[in-house]
Amino acid sequence: MKNNFGIYIHIPFCVKKCNYCDFISFSNRDNLIKGYVETLKKEIEKFDFSEYIVTTIYIGGGTPSYIDEKYILEILSLLKEKLVNNSISWKNIEITIEVNPGTVTKKKLEIYKESGANRLSIGLQSTNNRLLNQIGRIHTFKDFLDTYNLAKEVGFDNVNVDLMIALPNQSIKDIKESLEEIVSLNLNHISVYSLILEEGTLLEKQIDEGKIELPSDEEERRMYWYVKDFLELHGYNHYEISNFSKEGKESKHNLNCWNQEEYIGFGLASHSYIDGIRFCNTSNLEKYIENINNNNLDKNREIEEKQEKEDEEKEFMMLGFRKIDGVDISKFKEKYQENPLFLFRKELDKLVNEGLVEVDLNNIRLTNKGLDLANLVFEEFV
Ligand SMILES: C[S@@+](CC[C@H](N)C(=O)[O-])C[C@H]1O[C@@H](n2cnc3c(N)ncnc32)[C@H](O)[C@@H]1O
Ligand code: SF4
Repeated sequence: MKNNFGIYIHIPFCVKKCNYCDFISFSNRDNLIKGYVETLKKEIEKFDFSEYIVTTIYIGGGTPSYIDEKYILEILSLLKEKLVNNSISWKNIEITIEVNPGTVTKKKLEIYKESGANRLSIGLQSTNNRLLNQIGRIHTFKDFLDTYNLAKEVGFDNVNVDLMIALPNQSIKDIKESLEEIVSLNLNHISVYSLILEEGTLLEKQIDEGKIELPSDEEERRMYWYVKDFLELHGYNHYEISNFSKEGKESKHNLNCWNQEEYIGFGLASHSYIDGIRFCNTSNLEKYIENINNNNLDKNREIEEKQEKEDEEKEFMMLGFRKIDGVDISKFKEKYQENPLFLFRKELDKLVNEGLVEVDLNNIRLTNKGLDLANLVFEEFV
């Protein structure tokens, strides 16, 4: 049986679409929530877990905390039943739920806990209400604190907070204030994402119309290094390009993805990686529900990539470079019976000469310069 198998579950509903977001989520389809969850459960029901040992479950979105808590209970109860013989014991699975401030009650959190969830990821983005309002968030910093305090009361001690940098009109001073507030909470995990301007979003329109300006690339880099220095100074380990954690509190689910482990995605537009094949469910909500109800699961899935050994090896490198420790040479050798230093000698020679990558006894990793120019490194392994 294969170990370290992850499950991702997508809940594509939100109170309101944020101005910058192009994740598959809807703010006006509440009439479909019940049918969606029924369908999701059918999809889970039909999956054969017999070959796998599940170690992580991640319920993401969208806003999982927007839908009725009974649905989360139903989904996790079904998984608990299905995974009796196919997981490290239920209580040892890392089970994360994404929650948004402004959508959470104490009862909801209690039901999540009863359902087996043991990790929360709270989307805050900034502690500055002016910025939150400007990017279209539905909550204030105070709403976040209320959610966080409820989470603590209910007994969630493994909590991540998402922050964003390079937001329009955001200054280093704003970032400093957000970091000071968040660090004072002594959380296990902090993710910090640089804003990506996505096509078709309201933010893109506002920028095209000249109503809003984004920070320059140089300013974005200054913010990134400010965050890195600040969090490292406050006891957080920078373990992936956008992720910081207390020792031993890394997100197991995400680490598995960066370690090229397998996972199955259930739900709309969810991604999966099994047997060297990357595939994705349809993003069409009605089609998703119809195909599963008509027992046409395969019609929902689109193959994105069937990897040959060479593709897998390159991807292992690319994913490895996302981690601050870099590519683990002995794990590469174990998995592919080849030495990555020899296999990729041409690419690595170039990258080392350019000062983007460094090699030590067992790791090949980005240098500080490489962190700033990571895309140039990834390009060598596409
Ligand atoms: C999949 S979203 C869902 C989380 C949750 N719904 C929320 O918004 O709080 C996870 C995180 O991705 C980040 N994110 C979303 N859109 C982004 C963008 N365009 N650029 C950078 N980060 C983004 C945000 O930090 C968000 O919390
Ligand atoms: S950022 Fe989160 S809350 Fe906002 S629209 Fe995207 S998924 Fe929904």
